[in-house]
Amino acid sequence: MSIDTTNIQVKSKNRVADHGEVFTAEREVNAMLDLVKQETERVNSRFLEPACGNGNFLVKILERKLDVVTRIYAKSPIEWERYAVIAVSSIYGVDILKDNVEECRERLLNLFDVFCKKIKLSNNELKETISFILSKNILWGDALTLKTPDDKAFPIVFAEWSAVNGSMIKRMDYTMANLLESQPLDGLNLFSDLGDQAFLPKPVKEFPLVHYLKLKDME
Ligand SMILES: C[S@@+](CC[C@H](N)C(=O)[O-])C[C@H]1O[C@@H](n2cnc3c(N)ncnc32)[C@H](O)[C@@H]1O
Repeated sequence: MSIDTTNIQVKSKNRVADHGEVFTAEREVNAMLDLVKQETERVNSRFLEPACGNGNFLVKILERKLDVVTRIYAKSPIEWERYAVIAVSSIYGVDILKDNVEECRERLLNLFDVFCKKIKLSNNELKETISFILSKNILWGDALTLKTPDDKAFPIVFAEWSAVNGSMIKRMDYTMANLLESQPLDGLNLFSDLGDQAFLPKPVKEFPLVHYLKLKDME
């Protein structure tokens, strides 16, 4: 029997001491997300949580996005699937503890399943796709070194998923280090019109355009 840890804020004293692991309570999560309410309800807005724990923020973000998708597309399964895939694929997380990463992926997948049941959608291929996307978006890594926290020290690599013509997806992989190069440490400067150079991250891998249900076949 597994223990439901979704409402637990502290798992053990050691984990607090070693990794500062204190999860945020639901009320605070919602209050903070309300500060950027519009973005949490924009289906394709991208969120990255660099110390995501077991997913308290990411689960609520996905819930808000899927609420929107369901409100609009509940009666149109194909459209629901397309937008639900976009909602999941725009949510990213990193955590230094492997069990947190697994729990976070599992919670997001279970939430997706709850919504599928709500609209009576049963599609195993879709569920496999979602599970595959989560395995690429919720990653085990050290958000300070931007590498895996083991001897191998592989760079953290995120997949960017872009929907093209409805059901097709273009995947491009980037290192987290490269993506962060565009973020100056002294404050965000995303849309400056001061003539500074535009920053285009360089993908480390590109994949052919493919139907969302076939994403995992490209691996
Ligand atoms: C304070 S908890 C917050 C978890 C989650 N964001 C929440 O609010 O519920 C901090 C999390 O950061 C993770 N962590 C600590 N150091 C990290 C690092 N260098 N890189 C990635 N994650 C880290 C811990 O494992 C823990 O899950």
